[in-house]
Amino acid sequence: MKRVRKAVFPVAGLGTRFLPATKSIPKEMLTVVDRPIIQYVVDEAREAGIEHMIFVTGRSKEVIEDYFDIQMELATSLAEKGKTDRLKILNDLQPAPGTTSFTRQQAPLGLGHAVWCARELVGDEPFALLLPDMIMQAEKGCLASMMDLYSETGGNVLSVEECDPSETDKYGIVGKGEDVGAGFKITGMVEKPDPKDAPSNFYLSGRYILQPEIFKILERTERGAGNEIQLTDGMQTLFQEQSFAAHPFKGRTFDCGSPEGFIEANIAFALWRSDIREKVIDDIHRLLHEVQPRD
Ligand code: G1P
Repeated sequence: MKRVRKAVFPVAGLGTRFLPATKSIPKEMLTVVDRPIIQYVVDEAREAGIEHMIFVTGRSKEVIEDYFDIQMELATSLAEKGKTDRLKILNDLQPAPGTTSFTRQQAPLGLGHAVWCARELVGDEPFALLLPDMIMQAEKGCLASMMDLYSETGGNVLSVEECDPSETDKYGIVGKGEDVGAGFKITGMVEKPDPKDAPSNFYLSGRYILQPEIFKILERTERGAGNEIQLTDGMQTLFQEQSFAAHPFKGRTFDCGSPEGFIEANIAFALWRSDIREKVIDDIHRLLHEVQPRD
């Protein structure tokens, strides 16, 4: 079984739900407490042993590439001022030279197309895919746990969670088969099904371990739900020839693709920080009394 060394991060989305902020800031660079959303997702990949990060970007996303580069002037100035704790934060997060790659999606044709754009950089080996909209809180990261299941099952491994059965039309949904390791075998997948057609309420929650054969399938996958080339449709085709296992994630997931989920993530990650937790709790209590809806 080949080791998973590379991870793909599709970061080309326009982030229209965060306008006007996303006129000039990629949504992946919005901060949860003190670090951009993309940093949480990259940290999760590093924790899982990923060695090479591949970003599928788009126009006006250059700032993401800058973010992962060394900021020499800033580092020098922090060193001169003796701000070693700040400098350590930068150094700890800095990817080693040559371990990041960037390519552009060029046209917003859907997640399946974004993944396909990474085919040359991934090559002929299994890879992880992390959707940066979703950030997670758990003692052990979601992708690291998926790697454990992958070492038992091989093939393809997808993270799933349960949604309200009335909300299956918001997600990719999988069918549940027999248990395998800490997860279960997938019996099929469908993108954004009507609740009456959904095979279960287990939805794809944004972490994938995929085999490289997905690329040649995505190359000929037709547009599906939302008139976009859907990864789920490509995986359903690959499912005819390869195994798919689901890893039900036990931690907390925050959908930073919407302002409400983003606020929830900020509160949750602030509460996770012992240095600011008490202040945040006090502020929330006070504001609940003081602030009423304005409209
Ligand atoms: C995408 C995937 C979907 C998955 C979801 C998780 O949908 O196509 O299968 O459940 O991410 O966030 P999107 O949110 O881009 O509509």
